[in-house]
Amino acid sequence: MQVVAGPRSPRLAAATADALAKAGHDADLVVPEVDRFPDGEAYVRVAEDLGDADVALVQSAASDEAWIELLLLEDAVGSWTPREVACVVPYLGYARQDRRFEEGEALSAEVMARAVGFGATTVLTVDPHEDRVVEFFPCPARALSAVPVLADALADRGVDLVLAPDEGAAELAKRTADAFGADADHLVKERLSGEEVHVEPGDVAADGRTCALVDDIISTGGTMATAARALLDAGAAEVLCAATHGLFADVTRDDGTVVPARDRLLEAGVAEVLVTDTVERPGAPETGVVSVAPVVAEAVGELFA
Ligand code: R5P
Repeated sequence: MQVVAGPRSPRLAAATADALAKAGHDADLVVPEVDRFPDGEAYVRVAEDLGDADVALVQSAASDEAWIELLLLEDAVGSWTPREVACVVPYLGYARQDRRFEEGEALSAEVMARAVGFGATTVLTVDPHEDRVVEFFPCPARALSAVPVLADALADRGVDLVLAPDEGAAELAKRTADAFGADADHLVKERLSGEEVHVEPGDVAADGRTCALVDDIISTGGTMATAARALLDAGAAEVLCAATHGLFADVTRDDGTVVPARDRLLEAGVAEVLVTDTVERPGAPETGVVSVAPVVAEAVGELFA
């Protein structure tokens, strides 16, 4: 099989190909050419003849540019004669708008699912905001979970209470805690704006405990920062944050200063921030990143067995 490394997921694609090879699969890594025309449009070419191999195309879609690259990569892969094409979209951008909350809104999760489903025989993604998003794809699609790898990392750090910052992530907290025998609970969140939330500890018993806040996404960090403060105020000994997707959007404060989301978390007293490699930042690998490659490799291996 061939693992095609999209430019937004080069490390995860390489780690997935390695894990597949270690598990006894004949997996080669293919690096496509992805460039930009002077006007900013993307140019994509898979120069290597993929023959009739099974292909896993790995490309995270955390921005509009990444989405366009993904669609062009699918077409370039399909221009050869692959047997099956598994489109692995570790972070499925636009999935949060998974219904029309207000009349007349675009249903972005369905639009993107339809678009990416045109050239794939299967789509794999990791911890979409809601698992039901897989129903939007015109081909079989599966939501994988980063819980096993994040739970291992939290167990290594002596966490004994896993908390969701809101009820929506309570099931995630429970699954994470169950994976290593910790307790689980959830806080109560009210969203005030795109960047600000209010979080109440409710009747969570955090006193003296090593707590981990878990969520699917850290975007502006507002949810995790506010929840961490509430837990520390409630007497938690230490608070870590763990999320599958680290988007880390900058926040502009009222006085015009720009605060990176990660700094917001550290300012709130968070001891460590853990995310996975579903969203990669260019440059050297960062600390606090847990790879989902074992999860992705297992799913791709099963698919192409
Ligand atoms: C929303 O329901 C998600 O699960 C996350 O809680 C949210 O996207 C986090 O956003 P932020 O980091 O901006 O608070």
